Amino acid sequence: MTSSTAADRGTLLILNGPNLNLLGTREPEIYGSTSLSDVERLATAAAAAAGFNTTCLQSNHEGVLLDAIHAARGTAVGIIINAGAYTHTSVALADAIAGVELPAVEVHISNVHQREEFRHHSFLSAVCQSVIVGAGIYGYELAVSYLDKTLD
Ligand code: DQA
Repeated sequence: MTSSTAADRGTLLILNGPNLNLLGTREPEIYGSTSLSDVERLATAAAAAAGFNTTCLQSNHEGVLLDAIHAARGTAVGIIINAGAYTHTSVALADAIAGVELPAVEVHISNVHQREEFRHHSFLSAVCQSVIVGAGIYGYELAVSYLDKTLD
């Protein structure tokens, strides 16, 4: 799923990884009842209020996420990424974020540190400027706010 809107401080790439297309119906006691398209709409509205465009992409495929990060170089000014379970497994996504040299914010809807041990480690945290966990879907708006405050 992709979508774009118009503004002029540049584009924020909002990336969601595997299973996040199921938001709203997937384990609502953990992830809430808001759909991904509503989450993208809220984040896009926050971005537009701060003068950014957004490009929103969700994929269940690691390579598609990698390609989107690579394409962000030169086309986006920042990345907001919830890589889902790839957070805990993907050196490739960490390398891609490091490689494009864009400020990135890692978001997790749930507080991964209150959950299973395997969710406590993130390969992405070391290459992201900020990590927002456990704020629910508002984490995406907090990520927009962080980039609003820290980007020119
Ligand atoms: C998640 C946490 C991950 O551990 C999990 O695999 C997800 C969602 C979150 O947003 O809380 O898919 O990234």
